Amino acid sequence: MCGIVGAIAQRNITPILMEGLRRLEYRGYDSAGIAVLTDDGSDKHGSMLRVRAVGKVVELENALAATPAHGHLGIAHTRWATHGKPAERNAHPHISGSLAVVHNGIIENHGPLRKKLVALGYEFVSETDTEVVAHLVAHYYSETQDLLGAFRTALNELHGAYALAMIHEDQPQTLYCARMGSPLVIGEGSGEHYVASDPLALLQVTDRFRYLEEGDHARLTNTQCEIWDRDNNTAVRPVKRYEHAAFSMEKGEYRHFMLKEIFEQPQAISDTLSGILAKDHVLTAILGPDAETRLHEIENIHIVACGTSYHAGLVARYWIEEQADMPCSVEVASEYRYRTVVVPKNTLLITISQSGETADTLAALRFAKDQGYLATLAICNVAGSSLVREADWRLLTHAGPEIGVASTKAFTTQLVALLWLTTALAQVRGKDPERIASNVAALRKLPQIIEQALLLESRITTLAERFATKHHALFLGRGTHYPIAMEGALKLKEISYIHAEAYAAGELKHGPLALVDEDMPVVSVAPSDALLEKLKSNLEEVSARGGQLITFACETVDQSEDNNHEMISLPWVEDCISPILYTIPLQLLSYHVALVKGTDVDKPRNLAKSVTVE
Ligand code: G6P
Repeated sequence: MCGIVGAIAQRNITPILMEGLRRLEYRGYDSAGIAVLTDDGSDKHGSMLRVRAVGKVVELENALAATPAHGHLGIAHTRWATHGKPAERNAHPHISGSLAVVHNGIIENHGPLRKKLVALGYEFVSETDTEVVAHLVAHYYSETQDLLGAFRTALNELHGAYALAMIHEDQPQTLYCARMGSPLVIGEGSGEHYVASDPLALLQVTDRFRYLEEGDHARLTNTQCEIWDRDNNTAVRPVKRYEHAAFSMEKGEYRHFMLKEIFEQPQAISDTLSGILAKDHVLTAILGPDAETRLHEIENIHIVACGTSYHAGLVARYWIEEQADMPCSVEVASEYRYRTVVVPKNTLLITISQSGETADTLAALRFAKDQGYLATLAICNVAGSSLVREADWRLLTHAGPEIGVASTKAFTTQLVALLWLTTALAQVRGKDPERIASNVAALRKLPQIIEQALLLESRITTLAERFATKHHALFLGRGTHYPIAMEGALKLKEISYIHAEAYAAGELKHGPLALVDEDMPVVSVAPSDALLEKLKSNLEEVSARGGQLITFACETVDQSEDNNHEMISLPWVEDCISPILYTIPLQLLSYHVALVKGTDVDKPRNLAKSVTVE
């Protein structure tokens, strides 16, 4: 994911823009650039100075040391390539005449726009989709001499997702910006204004932000902030103080990192979704300019991962086979890498990892390189990790740093990325557009649904007190919720040291039922899906043997409880996002059980966050 910073101030803004880029760099980088309207009194005074460099932000700093930029209006960008490989000519800002733009997101119709602009005589010097925006605005400006009008006309022609910031030599006191599908905030300073794709980039200069809404565009001067909505009506976006310490490396008000990370999930999910969804379809181009063609070639999928990431892969298998109609197998990396693997024609290998450094997963990727795969894709939370660098494609989760050993927000964002990928595969294979639009709508509402699930915490705290005296527990689920039961059992084992096993509910009578008695809590996940009635029969089998049932069920499911059966209800959601929702109460349950038991929640005994040994 790319990063944007822009500023209009009475002081030199170059150091502010550079600090902003450094703060955004954790999201990914392959090049960076800055454009400043110079006001150093030299003969270049009032003209645009652009400096760009391939690599990390430090490379741009070195380039700036050779060509210092001093000015009070400027924009800057750190890039994570989609259209056009990492190269200086593809780095932002992109220029057309006296105008410069930076852009996050994907302009889906850049092809036809490029053709139109070439026919009008515009020369393209990059392979990016962004350069069309620069030329398009410049073109309309040349016709009307009205920069705001030209910006609006150009925005109306763009399809896809964007956050944009723009400056022009003719208006040395004005910064323009717009958002659609990619986040953008306006920072309020005293006699200065800023824009950024993430408030984190600006916390050095302000903690007061206006959050732009979809379709908004704005014109900023030192003292004025004018915002309009997509219909060009004046819009009021109130100033809010930046409060949540999201993704900081501190625990803040939370007792443990794990709890903080559980509560960060709405934000982590919305960050992961940022810039990858259009109104009723997914933006496949984030996988690269030829993604459509290459996704189309895929006929099989192999998923390889470890621990919690492996569980995310298991859920994805259900989604991919059902929605994309494609064979998919999932395996733990430590097995996969040591066996003979038969790779059918046109198979994509997917590795999933929070850290991108897990030794077995990395070795599996390296092993796969010689196995004749069509391509490799890394789904990962760390942009600069080995896994991301070595895979052909990458799909980043934006969970922010995960410190607690027991993975929480990394898991749910992996599921989000995998549901996005499933939808992308279904889309290129021409599957039902309504289903695709429904996946997109469900993903969009997910952060808010997770907020609701987090409200269950106090109820789960009470439950945990009784649970903590147990020595064993069974977790049951069916379909996509079977891997969620596995993840619930893993969480409980990891941090509370209670022995927990997960079973596909239909397997209960093939062995584990023998363990059930009044000392055995049986935790089940019961969404309102096609398998509900089957699951209920399995739970009857447990009740009949005196087992203690704890069921996380959809609010539409009959909630009759008795002494041996506790029901906790969750909101109804579409089947596709249900496994993500049901993860939340299981995370909270294991956290609160561990809290009662007094274990070292963030650093459980014998375990490590990043397992870089085999
Ligand atoms: C360790 C961690 C787990 C994690 C697993 C895989 O075991 O404790 O939380 O799921 O490694 O890590 P990865 O970074 O590859 O997702």
